[in-house]
Amino acid sequence: MKYNFDIIIDRANTNCIKYDLRKAVFGNPNVLPMWVADMDFETPDFVRNAVIQRAMHPVYGYHFKDEPYFKAIQSWLRRRHQWEVEMEWMFFTPGVVSGFAMAVQALTEPGDEVLIQSPVYPPFHQAAGQYGRKLVYNPLIYSDNGYVMDYDLLEQQAKTAKLIILCNPHNPVGRCWSREELTRLGEICIKNGMTVISDEIHCDLVLPGHKHTPFASINEDFAQNSLTFHAASKTFNLAGLATSTGIAKNPVIRKKVMDYVHSMESELGNIFGKVATETAMTCGDEWLGQLLDYVQGNVDYVSDFLHHNLPKVNFFKPEATYMMWLDFNDYGLSEDELWRKMTQEAELGFNRGSDFGKEGTCFLRVNLACPRENVKEAMRRLQKVFG
Ligand SMILES: Cc1ncc(COP(=O)(O)O)c(C=O)c1O
Repeated sequence: MKYNFDIIIDRANTNCIKYDLRKAVFGNPNVLPMWVADMDFETPDFVRNAVIQRAMHPVYGYHFKDEPYFKAIQSWLRRRHQWEVEMEWMFFTPGVVSGFAMAVQALTEPGDEVLIQSPVYPPFHQAAGQYGRKLVYNPLIYSDNGYVMDYDLLEQQAKTAKLIILCNPHNPVGRCWSREELTRLGEICIKNGMTVISDEIHCDLVLPGHKHTPFASINEDFAQNSLTFHAASKTFNLAGLATSTGIAKNPVIRKKVMDYVHSMESELGNIFGKVATETAMTCGDEWLGQLLDYVQGNVDYVSDFLHHNLPKVNFFKPEATYMMWLDFNDYGLSEDELWRKMTQEAELGFNRGSDFGKEGTCFLRVNLACPRENVKEAMRRLQKVFG
């Protein structure tokens, strides 16, 4: 491997949420933090060098996103996902969350129903339910073969709902939705006039053996009925640079959302986000291949460890994302007791499952984007308390 993902970097005292808010969040500053979805790996050297190069220029004034920037994203989507996106379909947002939150406002009215598929990333709940919009749950089915969508319920709900926020791939359950699954969802949406916002921030973190399908790439109807969000931030560890992309082929959807973004004075972003995204999208393929192999190694390590040592923890291996979604229900603990044991006895900082929806009660989400040694230490701590 050209890149070394085993290096342990001391992130403490860098204002980073994952390490520096441990006491506030877990009541214990010593937890091994494997929660917030950023990585403990170095942002790739070629990205850092490009940012440093720009930082050497002594003026950090207002900037705009130029053609090479959008071309780099366009080229990335073409070569990684075989998705042909025209330059004019793309626009900047200062994050995927702020992007979809603004898009919900732009595309719905107070009183409109907005669907989400829980358990799902907490900001989906907030974005779907704020400013008078009505949050409606279309929970995933936790089947013997893993998580699947509840199409029967969706058929019913789509009759009145205006919009669905799709998580493609899905955080926290790690599903990389297949073309068939997305097609079935998309057809229900078309039949009922329900627009799709597809959050594809994890689309480049699809693990070996799986393939991401951009929702809007499936057919022309889906392209016309959707808005996608993409970013380099999760993949290349750039979340602090607050830079992402909205993509809409449909000019009416695009105009509504872009107008809203402008009305919030949110269309500029920061100069380093531009440089980093453009560089990552241009030069990042080899690094990403090695990252995904390493993350898969972490997933395999945890899976084997749990099977052999903690068989009461249930889980499905993720197909995408660097997260694992662990089910502790067989321990028969209340969620508060599980949390106490995890944070105070095992000293592990995982995400609390119920933050993703009530279906996540007594689950924990573990972030495996960290050096193998930390993963091993986490498993040792887990075994001591839950073994
Ligand atoms: C599904 C999903 N969307 C969006 C985000 C965050 O996006 P941003 O930092 O661009 O707002 C995350 C981060 O974990 C995520 O998991």
